[in-house]
Amino acid sequence: MNAVEIEEAISKLASHPFNSEEFAYDFLEAFGNKNTTLKRLRSGNSNKSAFKGGVLQRNNIHIAVCEEATVEDTLILLKESSETKKAKAQFILATDGQEFQAENIISGETVVCEYKDFHEYFSFFLELAGISTVKQIRESAFDIKATGRLNKLYIELLRDNPDWASAERRPDMNHFLARLIFCFFAEDTDIFEGDGLFTSTVQKMSTGNTSNTHFIISEIFRTLDTKREERKLANIKSWVPYFPYVNGELFSGSTEVPKFTKIARSYLIHVGNLDWKKINPDIFGSMIQAVADDDERGLLGMHYTSVPNILKVLNPLFLDDLREHLEQTGDNARKLLNLRKRISHIRVFDPACGSGNFLVIAYKKLREIENEINKRRGENDRSSEIPLTNFRGIEIRDFSAEIARLALIIAEYQCDVLYRGKQLALAEFLPLDAENWITKGNALRINWLSVCPPTGTGVKLHGDDLFSTPLDQAEIDFDNEGGETFICGNPPYLGSTWQSKDQKADLYSIFKNYTKTWKSLDYVAGWLMKAVEYGKHTNASSAFVSTNSICQGQQVPILWPLIFESGHVINFAYTSFKWANLASYNAGVTVVIVGISNRVNSIKRLFTEGEDGLVIEKRTDKINAYLISGNDIIVSKSPKPIADIAEMTFGSKPVDGGNLLITKNELNLLNLTKSEKKTFIRQIFGSEEFISGKLRYCIWVDDDFTNEAMNHPVIGQRINEVRIMRLKSSKAATRKGAEWPYRFDEKRQNGNEKMIVVPAISSENREFLPCGYLPEGCIISNKNYALFDAPLWNMALIASRLHWVWIGTVCVRLEMRFSYSNTLGWNTFPLPKLTEKNKQDLTGCAEEILMARERHFPATIADLYDPKKMPEDLRQAHDRNDEVLERIFIGRRFKNDTERLEKLFELYLQMTNGLKKL
Ligand SMILES: C[S@@+](CC[C@H](N)C(=O)[O-])C[C@H]1O[C@@H](n2cnc3c(N)ncnc32)[C@H](O)[C@@H]1O
Repeated sequence: MNAVEIEEAISKLASHPFNSEEFAYDFLEAFGNKNTTLKRLRSGNSNKSAFKGGVLQRNNIHIAVCEEATVEDTLILLKESSETKKAKAQFILATDGQEFQAENIISGETVVCEYKDFHEYFSFFLELAGISTVKQIRESAFDIKATGRLNKLYIELLRDNPDWASAERRPDMNHFLARLIFCFFAEDTDIFEGDGLFTSTVQKMSTGNTSNTHFIISEIFRTLDTKREERKLANIKSWVPYFPYVNGELFSGSTEVPKFTKIARSYLIHVGNLDWKKINPDIFGSMIQAVADDDERGLLGMHYTSVPNILKVLNPLFLDDLREHLEQTGDNARKLLNLRKRISHIRVFDPACGSGNFLVIAYKKLREIENEINKRRGENDRSSEIPLTNFRGIEIRDFSAEIARLALIIAEYQCDVLYRGKQLALAEFLPLDAENWITKGNALRINWLSVCPPTGTGVKLHGDDLFSTPLDQAEIDFDNEGGETFICGNPPYLGSTWQSKDQKADLYSIFKNYTKTWKSLDYVAGWLMKAVEYGKHTNASSAFVSTNSICQGQQVPILWPLIFESGHVINFAYTSFKWANLASYNAGVTVVIVGISNRVNSIKRLFTEGEDGLVIEKRTDKINAYLISGNDIIVSKSPKPIADIAEMTFGSKPVDGGNLLITKNELNLLNLTKSEKKTFIRQIFGSEEFISGKLRYCIWVDDDFTNEAMNHPVIGQRINEVRIMRLKSSKAATRKGAEWPYRFDEKRQNGNEKMIVVPAISSENREFLPCGYLPEGCIISNKNYALFDAPLWNMALIASRLHWVWIGTVCVRLEMRFSYSNTLGWNTFPLPKLTEKNKQDLTGCAEEILMARERHFPATIADLYDPKKMPEDLRQAHDRNDEVLERIFIGRRFKNDTERLEKLFELYLQMTNGLKKL
């Protein structure tokens, strides 16, 4: 269940009469517990509560329904109960049907309210549904509630007005929803005079004749679009005189409204009766987007970018600098004035702005600083000099673009109320400006200079409709002569395999003049390159959230030389971290933030988030494309190892149409004698077989036995099939292989060597690469790499954390999985010169790792390296291995992966004599 569905279920439960026997089960059901779970709890099987009628769900919650006026005492008893502790319940909850109290035992937060109001606190319990909440989501209970209600209304209206559901009319429907949201906000914030003016007018005027609801609303919209002095002439109805003139062209154009059924009308009134003062424009916008998107509706209330994550972009991009200036300025009136002027000329531009959350936060933060300046200058009532039109965006989806404008308008009003008081805020709020500053369109096809020109002069086209300005009218005047431009956002990431044809064409249109190898770039790379192009004409600074793959492996040599050659540098960066919205939805996305500019800061800031969530900032003079503090180096393929280590090759490739490979079952069916098996059959290891312990065999014929094999009734038949298959191939090299059908086409081992093995593809979730050792007689396929007959200390290198971070950084990633490469990962691995003693020590470490694994036989590599279940002795063996190797590198353990990478890059540069330097 998503947050919106939970809110609905909880509100429904709260609206029903209290049922002491059923309450606990209904409560758990509202949080998505299945019938089978509830049945088990009811039967007592999984319910260990000692409270009369109590329900205890392991790891989750202990609920007790108690006698009247004993709620507080019951909650204390619940907390002290040994069952609660044994079951590790995170929440305790007590109610008597009048009062409601609950506590999150881990965080210590509590809820105390009347029973009828407990639904307001549904987000307090979201963890019960596996939704790990961040504090801000808790605080956005209103936004989740409003989104859910509006979604119901939207769906109902689409059902009743199927023509409005068509692609052509969807923008009208979305526009209508944006107008409604404005009215709901305006009626609760005194922008419309009288509490609930809009909702109550609709309710009153359509009572008894609900089929005229659309007409009533349409007439209100018409009023909002007509100046008071023109209303008589426009024949405006006498029941709407209190509505103000809004302008902003929000209500201009067609005022057609979809038809309302009785149900739709009641939904409208229901949503109108919420307290829209509580709307949070930086959160609400992100949530509401899903309403208009049929594919995203399932994630309603989940799509959400947290404010702290947005500030990771905005703070180092420009806010930290402004705050520092404010600090230095103290109370110096003239300097404060200059700073205020500077702020009023700052433009923030998000070219994938969605519902405008980056812009809204940027606006609010600038207003905060401006307010501090005004306070210090003793000008508390002063109206803001920060124009909304300095917050520009491009967004491809029409509804999101509309919501972005609305969110900014709401943010402006809320800031005015906060800093200047309601009276002044109201006095200046209406009529809205008509200018359009959010452009609907494809950011990779639009010239950013036209949306956000370097200076205000010479660009004087005015939009004439706030909500439907055509693209060519996006250029409007603004006063920012000498102002700074900051570009930011989190554009769509999309790896190359997920891009549509049109998106590929977007990238081609940008990169065609620079490189032929653009095809493997992520879609987000298009935004970085557009920012670079924009930077050729202005001195803007840009920072985007991006998939970390643009700073890893194959994308680095394609993208970053282009950026650096244009004179841009990385001024700040966040190394990889999980981009968590509501964690259960977005758990998988690992991102980086890169801030680039052609204005080179002497000090660059590199942020790294530790596992404890704490951020470490390193100040350095250079950040390279891998987001490491150090010189601009690009690691490229090397045919031979740069260090004194063994040579690594692929395993053998059968090219056999499946005829040389044999499963265990097939082997039994072949009915071979023991001696035939010994002569012709070997165990083969692909990556699956190696990691998950699956058994697989292959026909492997030593040169001395080829005639015997070809004449064998069963083996010979399979060999013949291989010949036929290879002859049919369209590739000349494969057809040539028909001359040796008894063996793998690409044979890279004799079959008598010992091997150190590392699978080509492996999960990024393991803390170490799943390498291993195989004895003579085994065959490895081309799904693995191997070091044949190499000293065992080489395995200690592959098993180390140092190698893990190197491979994760310089090799290609498939989605997030590691894709090992001998030429890009092993051959480039930098290593200090090893003494014989070092090699002995490392051999000992590799043996310890192998012995630790052996102790857990028959556990597979997959079992042993599951990060949650890794056996302690194996972990210790790896720890020892890391200790020995890292002491060889720097005489102590590295503090973290960042330090490991910095050392590796430094060594790489030395070992390649700076040849790869840009
Ligand atoms: C990851 S979202 C970020 C939006 C917003 N900052 C947020 O956190 O919700 C990316 C946004 O880019 C928009 N988008 C996708 N392709 C685009 C394009 N070619 N031009 C402009 N916007 C685009 C999407 O519709 C989406 O709103």
